[in-house]
Amino acid sequence: MNFEQVKALLEKYNQAHLLKYYDELNTEQKKSLLGQIEGIDFELLNHVKKPGENVNRGEITPLDDAVSISDIENNRTKFSALGQNAIKEGKVAALLLAGGMGTRLGSDKPKGMYNIGITKDVYIFEMLINNLMDVVNQTGAWVPLYIMTSEKNNDDTIQFFEEKNYFGYDKDYIDFFTQEMAPAVSFDGKIYLEDKDKISTSPNGNGGWFISFVKSGLCEKAKRSGVEYINIFAVDNVCQRIADPCFVGAMIDGEYRSAAKVVSKVSPEEKVGVLCLEDGRPSIVEYYEMTDEMKYQTKENGELAYKYGVILNYLFRIKDLEKNLNNNLMIHLVEKKIPYIDEDGNKITPEKENGYKFETLVLDMVHMMDNCLAYEVVREKEFAPIKNKTGVDSVESACELLKLNGVTL
Ligand code: UTP
Repeated sequence: MNFEQVKALLEKYNQAHLLKYYDELNTEQKKSLLGQIEGIDFELLNHVKKPGENVNRGEITPLDDAVSISDIENNRTKFSALGQNAIKEGKVAALLLAGGMGTRLGSDKPKGMYNIGITKDVYIFEMLINNLMDVVNQTGAWVPLYIMTSEKNNDDTIQFFEEKNYFGYDKDYIDFFTQEMAPAVSFDGKIYLEDKDKISTSPNGNGGWFISFVKSGLCEKAKRSGVEYINIFAVDNVCQRIADPCFVGAMIDGEYRSAAKVVSKVSPEEKVGVLCLEDGRPSIVEYYEMTDEMKYQTKENGELAYKYGVILNYLFRIKDLEKNLNNNLMIHLVEKKIPYIDEDGNKITPEKENGYKFETLVLDMVHMMDNCLAYEVVREKEFAPIKNKTGVDSVESACELLKLNGVTL
């Protein structure tokens, strides 16, 4: 597109301000800016005008089954053997979602590079690799590990893994790919400029992983080498078990189409997304979508009807994901602090949220699956997310839990 075409496009979407500094740019910057504008998915902006329009939910009902901690203990030998065989046969891969900006932690490096050590260096990425190594040691098989980054943190992430010699993992089994970006907008839907020649963008949410995985060619590579199951996990839970043979085995044993690690809620009010059914299909209802009636509803045995909180550790089958590739995921508007340049060309770093990022979420993929096994894990052993520096879900709270689990920090 030439300048005139881009200008017309922007006028159509009420975004002409993006060319405000065009005349000040050199030829290369001009070309780059026009290219960025051409790449914008302007349809996303409709979500700001009609917030919540695509969040009409179906009928939410409690899950009808789950494997509880005691069910798992009773079947551990069987489940573990099934899972270990699948891993030995190369059918299981792990995929780390590391494209997030980690703004709450407040480090300008990728979250996985954060050092949580006390007496020695212990990086978040290192903890995750150590956890996966336990499975490699148990099964004698390397689990292919795919790491999703974004254009904002890809180079730092790869360089860090190289510098640290992949923390002892076989690098032939690690592949990186980047997710796509989406524009960041003000509350009234104006796309921000991050610089005079640069549109403000941010990673398009962790639900973007599968499309980016396919586009990168890695999905094809995984299938060629016989991978059938993918364990998706977040960068910030340093205690989680990855490619856990017992989890994989439970899914295979029950012939489930997907599986989610869950923890029992500590209280009806706990702010956690809960696995449920939506129009009879698996789904996740966010805490702010639950009425008091739902929060306190109990089953005959006295347990909470909506009892199981998700911890961002899922198993999917590649073939089911492929079937749903063209089904659109819901777009979530997430309020964020977005650096921008103001009317006078000054760079502003806002102190409080000043706009939205557009994100799709991996949790919405569960609803595309015919069923989902809720697999209960012990919170104190497997759930130590690091979102903040201190307080709830923080470096502090995760370190406490790691120490209780015998990890030297
Ligand atoms: P969070 O929802 O905690 O987001 O991500 P975040 O961006 O890391 O952190 P804040 O909100 O800015 O503080 C949960 C998981 O999803 C990944 C994150 O890296 C983390 O593993 N993620 C998130 C992506 O891979 N891509 C995204 O676009 C967003």
